[in-house]
Amino acid sequence: MNVLVTGACGYIGSHAVRCLLKAGHRPIALDNLSRGHHESLPAGVPFVKLDIRDTDALADALKQHSIECVMHFAAFAYVGESVEQPLVYYDNNTRGTLSLLQALDRVGVRRLVFSSTCATYGEPETMPIHEQTAQQPINPYGWSKLFSERMLFDYAASKPTFAFAALRYFNVAGCSADGAIGEDHHPETHLIPVILQTKLGLREKVTIFGEDYPTDDGTCVRDYIHVEDLVEAHVQVAAVLEPGAKLVYNLGIGRGYSVKQIVEVARSVIGEFRVDSGPRRPGDPPKLYADASKIERDVGWVAQRTDIRAMIESAWRWFEHHPRGYAARGA
Ligand code: UFG
Repeated sequence: MNVLVTGACGYIGSHAVRCLLKAGHRPIALDNLSRGHHESLPAGVPFVKLDIRDTDALADALKQHSIECVMHFAAFAYVGESVEQPLVYYDNNTRGTLSLLQALDRVGVRRLVFSSTCATYGEPETMPIHEQTAQQPINPYGWSKLFSERMLFDYAASKPTFAFAALRYFNVAGCSADGAIGEDHHPETHLIPVILQTKLGLREKVTIFGEDYPTDDGTCVRDYIHVEDLVEAHVQVAAVLEPGAKLVYNLGIGRGYSVKQIVEVARSVIGEFRVDSGPRRPGDPPKLYADASKIERDVGWVAQRTDIRAMIESAWRWFEHHPRGYAARGA
């Protein structure tokens, strides 16, 4: 299958490109390189440098590469930044998705797998989070993705031949098993990369944001899913998208780890690093973990790489050898 991957040079998109190749598909990589790294693409994969908000150019690319399915990862994903610059998020994430749908409609591409997020749920009172849990985002990032989901439902209702799956990610972690590609965000704010950068001496310390949450050890609990499991779910879901499908699935491992647990497991992998306590980070819900059983029942996907230690080891393999990210390759 010819699959267009938007945001193909980002952390998750680049892992998806490799997963598609492994599964025998033909990925076509698209990225505007505003935050992505061209170096993350394997040699030989066609690359289209394009902003998805350029609907005409996007429609041309869909035609030119005879695209049969799109995996849509292109988006900004910093909660804090979205609070400071909401319009940037609605423009890049929501308008970007609208433009993509317009191009798909014009060319007649009928399958889309969409990168959504658990941030669309906001702060649910009960755990685990099911797909039916009410979606009440608490920041513009979550809204920008929820509005995109809404557009997918409305478009699909008007177009019976169209099919989509919106996959709501929990905390994506880890890097490719062979250490070839990884995670390279600027700035980096995610817990596991922050820990690894501290060990590498790129940061002075890890600050635990809040130890007074209503959880067992007082720190926030999250559901960490390995990026390679996550992208495999996309490939499996794409294969079952039949006309008219409007699928929504959580992607997590179904159990949570606290910040302190992650710190302890990381210490057992990489040794000591400096940790201190700080105040809560605004907007962090105390506990988020998924019920990811629906995708298992419907599609047969279940996370394989659930060992949190191995997840951190796989990230460490990348960070240890690329302390400056892709820039280390002379980019
Ligand atoms: N944390 C720290 N110190 C740090 C970094 C993070 O204590 O230096 C804590 C956070 O407070 C949080 C946990 O570690 O409790 C995980 O934080 P991350 O920043 O790694 O991830 P988030 O849970 O904040 O974010 C993830 C996704 C977002 C998504 C969000 C939904 O990365 O894209 O879940 O809540 F929007």
